[in-house]
Amino acid sequence: MRLDNRGTATRAIPTTCAYASPDSTSARLWQRAQHVLPGGNTRTTVFMAPRPIYAADGEGCWLTDVDGERRLDLLNNYTSLIHGHAHPAVTEAATRRLARGVSFALPTPEEIDLAALLAERVPSVEQVRFTNSGSEAVMVAIKAARAFTGRHRIAKFEGAYHGSYDWAEVSLGSSPGEWGPLEAPVSLPYSKGTPPSVLEEVVVLPFNHARLAAARIEREAHGLAAVILDPVPNRVGLMPARAEFLNAMREVTAAHGILLIFDEVISFRVGYRGAQGVFDVRPDLTTFGKIIGGGFPVGAVGGGADVMAVFDPRGGKPAVPHGGTFNANPVTMAAGLAAMRLMDEGAYARLDEMGETLRGGFRACLERAGVPGAITGVGSLFRIHPTERAFVDYRSAVADDAEKKRLDRLHRALLDHGVLISPTGLGCLSTVVTEAEVEYFLEIVNHCVRAG
Ligand SMILES: Cc1ncc(COP(=O)(O)O)c(C=O)c1O
Repeated sequence: MRLDNRGTATRAIPTTCAYASPDSTSARLWQRAQHVLPGGNTRTTVFMAPRPIYAADGEGCWLTDVDGERRLDLLNNYTSLIHGHAHPAVTEAATRRLARGVSFALPTPEEIDLAALLAERVPSVEQVRFTNSGSEAVMVAIKAARAFTGRHRIAKFEGAYHGSYDWAEVSLGSSPGEWGPLEAPVSLPYSKGTPPSVLEEVVVLPFNHARLAAARIEREAHGLAAVILDPVPNRVGLMPARAEFLNAMREVTAAHGILLIFDEVISFRVGYRGAQGVFDVRPDLTTFGKIIGGGFPVGAVGGGADVMAVFDPRGGKPAVPHGGTFNANPVTMAAGLAAMRLMDEGAYARLDEMGETLRGGFRACLERAGVPGAITGVGSLFRIHPTERAFVDYRSAVADDAEKKRLDRLHRALLDHGVLISPTGLGCLSTVVTEAEVEYFLEIVNHCVRAG
C-alpha cells in the first residue's frame, strides 16, 4: 500500500466498524458487562463511548476483536508490549515457567536474573524491589523516600500521571479555572474524596520550567522527601523534558537532601538504559513497569543500595516493610527476562528510526491536507495533538473543547479504518512493526484527516 506524490491512497482503505452495530458481539458483551461491572468497566482507561470494543486475539502487531475485525495495534496495552502480541520467545518462556508452578511462598531464581538485568543496564540502579504494577512501584518508591529522608511531603509535576495512588494523582487533571499561578500550581484532587491532608502533602511544580520549579522546591525543601518526575510524561503532552530542566532538578534536589525519583514506567522503552540514559541524568530511585514484565502485570523500584536498604529485612523489621503475595511471581519474571533480553541496543536504535519515520510521515500527512495538528514523542512513543501550538508544559498542551472533538473524530476514524491508538492520541511501536505497517498507518491517517 503506497501514497502517490499527492498523498492519495493507491489501495482501498479497510473498514472495521462491526463493533458499532447493536447486534455485534462487542455490543452483546457490553450489555452483560454492565450488570456485573460499574459502567461495564474495570479499567477507566479502556472505556470508550458509546461502548468498548472487546479484544479476542493478538498476534504480532495485529489485534483481532470479538467480531473478527483486525486492527494494527499501535497501543500495545498502553505501551507495555514491546514485542507486540504473543511473541514466540516470550510465550515460550512464560509457558515453560507456567508448567512448573506459577507462584510460591518462596523466592525464585528468576527474580534475581531480572533484577540483575536492570542493575546491569541502569547505572543509577544497584538493587531492585518488584511489585505488581507501576502504581504500586510509585507508592513503594515514595514510602522508601519518606523512610530514607525522615520527611513526608513530596513534589510532583502538574498534569503528570504516576498511577492510581492518592498522592501521585494530585493535580493530574487540573483545568485553567483552578490551576493557579505557574510558579505555584494549586494542589488539586483528582478523585472525589481525596483527603485534604493529601493535598497538603503534595507540592505541585511546573514541568519544563527549570527556574520556577527549582525556586518552589527551594521554598518547600525542608519538608520534601522526594520529587517525582517522568522525563517523557504522556499526560503532560509527551514532549521530552528539556536538558537544563532535568539538570536543574537533579542539582536542586541533591542540594537539599531530597530524593529524585524518575518514573520510567513508560519511558524505560525509549532507550537501553531508559530515559535517564538518553538524557544522561542519574536519579536516586527509578520506578519501572510495563515492558519489563513481557506483557504480564509488573512494577519495580530500583536505586542505590543505600536507599534500597530501607527494605532490608536482615536484622528485624525493615524501615519499610513491603509485602505482596504476587511480587516477583516467576511467570512475570520469566516473561520479562525473555522480553528484555531481546532488547539489545540495536533493537532500540531500530525503534528510534521507525518512530522518527512515523512522526515525520504524520506531519507530512497533516501538511498535505492543510489540517492543524501536531505529533510529539521520543523513540517508539508518539502522541497526536489536535492543535498546532508549541508545547512546553502541561498548560500549553491541554486541548480545548473544539480540539478535543477533533481528536475524538480522528481516533474514531482510525478505529473504524483499522488502527488502534488511545483516545487521547497516545501510540507506540513494537519491535515487530515493519516499514509496511508504518506505511499502512500513514495511509489510513492520510485518508482520515482528508475525510475530516
Ligand atoms: C508514568 C506512569 N507511571 C505509573 C503508571 C502506573 O502503572 P500501572 O498502570 O502498571 O499501575 C503508569 C501507567 O500508565 C504510567 O504511565
